[in-house]
Amino acid sequence: MGNKEIVVSGIRPTGNLHLGNYFGAIKNFVKMQETSQCYFFIADYHSLTTHPTPGDLQKNVKQVLIEYLAAGLDPEKATLYLQSDLPETAELYLFLNMNAYLGELERVTTFKEKARKQPNNVNAGLLTYPTLMAADIIIHKAAKVPVGKDQEQNLEMTRTYARRFNNMYSKDYFPIPNAYNFGEQLVKIPGLDGSGKMGKSEGEGNAIFLNDDPKTLRKKVMRAVTDSGPTENNQKKPEAIQNLFTLMKVVSKQDIISQFDDMYNDCTIRYGDLKKQLAEDMVIFTEPFREKISELSANEDYIKKVMNQGAEKARESAQKTINEVREIIGFRKYH
Ligand code: TYM
Repeated sequence: MGNKEIVVSGIRPTGNLHLGNYFGAIKNFVKMQETSQCYFFIADYHSLTTHPTPGDLQKNVKQVLIEYLAAGLDPEKATLYLQSDLPETAELYLFLNMNAYLGELERVTTFKEKARKQPNNVNAGLLTYPTLMAADIIIHKAAKVPVGKDQEQNLEMTRTYARRFNNMYSKDYFPIPNAYNFGEQLVKIPGLDGSGKMGKSEGEGNAIFLNDDPKTLRKKVMRAVTDSGPTENNQKKPEAIQNLFTLMKVVSKQDIISQFDDMYNDCTIRYGDLKKQLAEDMVIFTEPFREKISELSANEDYIKKVMNQGAEKARESAQKTINEVREIIGFRKYH
């Protein structure tokens, strides 16, 4: 371990993982575990903003862990843990909140979007989502945070809070972390409903889950939004069509994509064929995940072991930071 670069990221347990989570985040996690000191967690504190029942919470946490493992995360290489197993994170969150201001929190795009979508549940946890995220990241003194494009602003907030702590108390204590993607640019995987990103809460049929069976998957893709087709050669693709091509880019072979691109450009494309091809390539891509998910789902003891082992490793690092932070702030150290 020693001097390896520290990497932290997490995913909320709000349902099965979809292709957006995979290409925006997990694909990078799997690569980074080979070379860096990685902490990947399940953001179960964060999921409380939407008030899940205890039963759903437990089920979803377990499912995300299973899908982490199915996607290739290795508990021997990366520390895999539940956010709520580190109360140190909650303590750091409290400290960071003392220097987080209403105005800046209210300006966060994801906050504004969620406040608009769920006007009857604009709770303090939703408002302070970015300080909890900052606590997750800096509790391990991370340098890199692999996330999708939608998390960019939250990462900017993390950088602000880390800097603010440093300026107030102790210059250079927290490293200033960067959002990260291997392909250099952060990724945004579109959904199937014609606009915006793939997401768990974007409505039925918008997301393709790693665990979707082939029949469901094909049905979703065949229902994806399109239009009546190009009418002029080399016409710019409208968003819904561009989205299908973007999805193809992550699951299909380059020569297949070029073929469809050419057919679009000379107006001979049939969207039914495009969708059939996309669906088949997605079925092939997701097949190994589905197999591993069902294998791991039967192994309750192993999942528990991974959780316990991860909690222990993660707490070691978190306790070290929180002790130092308490001392820096002027509190007594725990140990
Ligand atoms: P969450 O659970 O919404 O998403 C998990 C990860 O998947 C990425 N992602 C996408 N990437 C590309 N295209 C998409 N359509 C797409 N949809 C989701 C997200 O960018 C993210 O990387 N706030 C976080 C969880 C979190 C966290 C953290 C992340 C809590 N604390 C600390 C990093 C570090 C979230 O809600 O992600």
